[in-house]
Amino acid sequence: MSIRSERKEEHLALAQMFFDEKKKNSFDQMHLLRPALPEKKADLNTIKTEMFGKSVSAPFFINAMTGGSKKSRKVNRALGIVSEKQKIALALGSSSILVKEKDQLDSFYIAREENPHGVLIANVNPLTPFKDAIKIANELQADALQIHVNTVQEIAMPEGERDFHWLDNMREIRDNLDLPIIVKEVGFGIDYSTIQLLKREHFDLVDIAGSGGTNFAQIENGRNHRDVSYLQDLGLPTVVTALMAKKANANFIVSGGVRNPLDVLKGLALGGKYVGIANVFLQEYMQNGEKALLERIQNWKIELANLLAIYGLDSLRDATKLQQYYDFPLKNIIDQLV
Ligand code: FNR
Repeated sequence: MSIRSERKEEHLALAQMFFDEKKKNSFDQMHLLRPALPEKKADLNTIKTEMFGKSVSAPFFINAMTGGSKKSRKVNRALGIVSEKQKIALALGSSSILVKEKDQLDSFYIAREENPHGVLIANVNPLTPFKDAIKIANELQADALQIHVNTVQEIAMPEGERDFHWLDNMREIRDNLDLPIIVKEVGFGIDYSTIQLLKREHFDLVDIAGSGGTNFAQIENGRNHRDVSYLQDLGLPTVVTALMAKKANANFIVSGGVRNPLDVLKGLALGGKYVGIANVFLQEYMQNGEKALLERIQNWKIELANLLAIYGLDSLRDATKLQQYYDFPLKNIIDQLV
């Protein structure tokens, strides 16, 4: 196995080892005001939306995780099947490995095979040559491309990048690819001035991927190369980075630490167009199998529609009108930063 494939298998194993679904995060310190007499009826139609020109049954999706190894082929096959059956979008893990290891294509493409017509999002690192990014997007028949910006993770990885001059190459990808581009973090959040920069540079969407869920410093620390535990606290809490994106008036996705349908609603209330979930869905599959993930997602859809009714909402868009308030520790950060 190559070092890249090996790393992907280690990430899968460690994401499972450190998984703690009950872990508290910024969503717990954010609250939404609810009308006691909403005069609404729960209806799955209210949560349907559109993503990159295709209709989807919910505003939440499976965020980027796997590909590029034998085990991840199996995972991507299951995620492809589930996303097709549940009609939700699926982002694949970084395909930059294909630049050097073309024989790994099948471990990603299997998801497209299982979900030929659904929304599939490809993912590359910011230094992927634009010709390769185009090739990858074409091969996967992707509807959009995520570029991950993950400086903390790179530093945590002994074999990671140390030169973060990324923007020029990202511009080349943007200028040459005929697809929407999402710039995403991997669980440390994106600050206000970077969101403004990305907006100025006309990247289509920002996935703020804040802290509170998967922590890649912890995962890399688990690979036991050197102690990088001090990097674990470098993240911006998801609610804070989402408020920064809102303030910047950006088009954005909320993700990082989303654990349940109420977190999804809070993500929408913060102004996120869509809400991404990574490890919670992955672990449902890893621990309980494909059918369990399928049922989990079906339940989330029903529960999100229920929530829309009790919060008195006719549509997803109206979620931004909900009154929000914060517990003091979170409010304190917001007052200082946003
Ligand atoms: C990830 N994530 C990720 N992100 C990315 O842009 N490219 C990638 O290849 C991967 N790979 C990956 C593997 C595994 C096993 C996990 C758990 C996660 C990061 C992911 O998309 C997301 O941003 C973070 O996990 C935070 O979201 P959650 O897990 O808190 O919902």
